[in-house]
Amino acid sequence: MRPKFLFIPTLVLAFLPPLAAVATVSPFQISDSSKNHNFLPQTTFFALVKNPNVSLRFVSDFGVCETTPGVHQKSGYITVGKNMHMWFWFFESRTSPETAPFTLWLSGGPGCSSMIGLFQENGPCYVNPDSKTIVINSFSWNNISNMIYIDEPIGAGFSIGNDTVNSTETAAPFVWQAFQVLFESGAFSKFVSRELILATDSYGGHYGPAFVTYFNKQNALIESWLLQGERVEVSTLIINKVPGARTSLLQGQAYVDFATNAPGYGQLQPDNILAQINQSYFGLGGCREQELACYAAGDSIDSENICRKADDFCKIQNDNVLNLAAANRDPYDLRQNTSALFPFEFYVDLSNLHSTRTKIGAEVRYKECPNAPLRPFVKTGDSPRMFLPQLGPLADSGLKLLIWVSRDADIICNWLGAHASVPAMDWYGHDRLVKTPFTIMTMNGKAVAEMLNVDFSFAPVYQAGHQVPAFQPETSFDSDKSCIKSNLTRFEFLRPFFCDNFLVDMFRC
Ligand SMILES: *[C@@H]1O[C@H](CO)[C@@H](O)[C@H](O)[C@H]1NC(C)=O
Ligand SMILES: *[C@@H]1O[C@H](CO)[C@@H](O)[C@H](O)[C@H]1NC(C)=O
Ligand SMILES: *[C@@H]1O[C@H](CO)[C@@H](O)[C@H](O)[C@H]1NC(C)=O
Ligand SMILES: *[C@@H]1O[C@H](CO)[C@@H](O)[C@H](O)[C@H]1NC(C)=O
Ligand SMILES: *[C@@H]1O[C@H](CO)[C@@H](O)[C@H](O)[C@H]1NC(C)=O
Ligand SMILES: *[C@@H]1O[C@H](CO)[C@@H](O)[C@H](O)[C@H]1NC(C)=O
Ligand SMILES: *[C@@H]1O[C@H](CO)[C@@H](O)[C@H](O)[C@H]1NC(C)=O
Repeated sequence: MRPKFLFIPTLVLAFLPPLAAVATVSPFQISDSSKNHNFLPQTTFFALVKNPNVSLRFVSDFGVCETTPGVHQKSGYITVGKNMHMWFWFFESRTSPETAPFTLWLSGGPGCSSMIGLFQENGPCYVNPDSKTIVINSFSWNNISNMIYIDEPIGAGFSIGNDTVNSTETAAPFVWQAFQVLFESGAFSKFVSRELILATDSYGGHYGPAFVTYFNKQNALIESWLLQGERVEVSTLIINKVPGARTSLLQGQAYVDFATNAPGYGQLQPDNILAQINQSYFGLGGCREQELACYAAGDSIDSENICRKADDFCKIQNDNVLNLAAANRDPYDLRQNTSALFPFEFYVDLSNLHSTRTKIGAEVRYKECPNAPLRPFVKTGDSPRMFLPQLGPLADSGLKLLIWVSRDADIICNWLGAHASVPAMDWYGHDRLVKTPFTIMTMNGKAVAEMLNVDFSFAPVYQAGHQVPAFQPETSFDSDKSCIKSNLTRFEFLRPFFCDNFLVDMFRC
């Protein structure tokens, strides 16, 4: 159980800022007044000259999570509009921080905190069962990249303020705004010219293609002098599901197929349940019919209702398709039951310790996946919409792209759906892709993943649930960054994305 109230010794309170969860003083009053920005020791503040509503404030080197000597960290708030404060946590690369890429990690949801990625998947530490102590993650992605984790939309994680985001498309401008202030601030401006990677989890399969498409449009306006601002040039996009596939046509059908014969696990449900799932999906007025109606509605006004209904009918809370397919299993990892034993949640209590929040400058209690930022997405029917059509042009444009998925245990974004969706992407390499066989990657003689590398990379990882890096940290990170010699016995497929000379042509790696 998580404590309902924080214990705060009065002695500590004397020199602490009022915290939202423990005081009646609104954190928004504090946050919005630039005059009071010094309320935490060593808080650095920066505001855009052309728009003082957009600003940055953070604390540095407080020794939480990353304890590797000499490795700097910063955390705090990026104010992207009136009373809209995104939480961020930045870790310098453990090696070559002055040349290593700059990677933004976004967890999914929509509305889930990116601290999930930080603490459960690829951050500098994992939290022990005591929720107080940590172990260093030697496979942290910050071994080889500067990493920034951002909580968005407003409401997720430690973020604060009013949320106006109701879809993937409306989320993009705020993330762009965050880069504007980061790139103009003294602390982060050095990353303007650095290799920029956008890496996402889960619903990030929506965010990734949509955000990069939006950034590119803004870049074009800046180039033609129609907009003043910093270019945000993402060179690499890493997503761990196929965009929009969760309840998309292909993934929906894959729930039926997966329950019928999960690769390596066989038939998941008895015949009568399979018939029921099949009927819910293929039957008259069923999931498939509704999703087709959603795609046909496009971006019309009506599409919101149609897509929302399709989502309601097909999605996880509903017993019609996915829930029946998963039954008493964790839909994110069929090897576990619904109690979702792994990845562990120990980090949540650590994050909410008053001492932690004081050190890292978090002004509110932590919310892992609150409903508030999710609800508006549900209302506009964002989930069943397809982002694969946006990904094709990005692949055509030369964006380096890695899609990695669970090869076996994830039901919700399962392998059958991913396998069907990737060849559905329309881009110049399509014909070559469908003819190319997978390469099996082994590590210490054990097969760990498959790899398809046809100008973009598709990597199904073995023995992994939904949050792939949490299950196979070694597979998700290549410690041998030499980038020249090819050795498929190591975690090869991330090599092209994180290597010493990041500008090197990925296909030579
Ligand atoms: C800053 O916010 C205030 C209050 O919402 C608004 O009136 C003003 O136009 C904003 N400034 C800019 C440059 O957007
Ligand atoms: C904005 O957030 C504040 C604090 O949570 C709340 O009091 C206020 O009603 C919100 N405003 C709107 C327009 O939602
Ligand atoms: C979603 O947000 C956009 C942009 O703020 C707005 O124009 C649109 O009306 C909103 N849609 C709904 C259903 O609230
Ligand atoms: C699935 O449903 C469709 C449409 O109702 C039906 O034609 C088909 O025979 C069913 N398949 C199975 C395996 O139940
Ligand atoms: C889930 O699995 C755990 C560990 O195997 C077990 O202790 C627990 O009883 C199971 N719960 C249910 C509801 O099956
Ligand atoms: C990551 O960096 C740490 C600290 O610099 C180092 O001890 C560790 O071996 C590195 N991990 C890998 C997989 O290279
Ligand atoms: C590949 O990796 C294995 C295990 O790490 C090692 O034994 C082997 O020498 C490596 N081969 C090359 C060509 O680097």
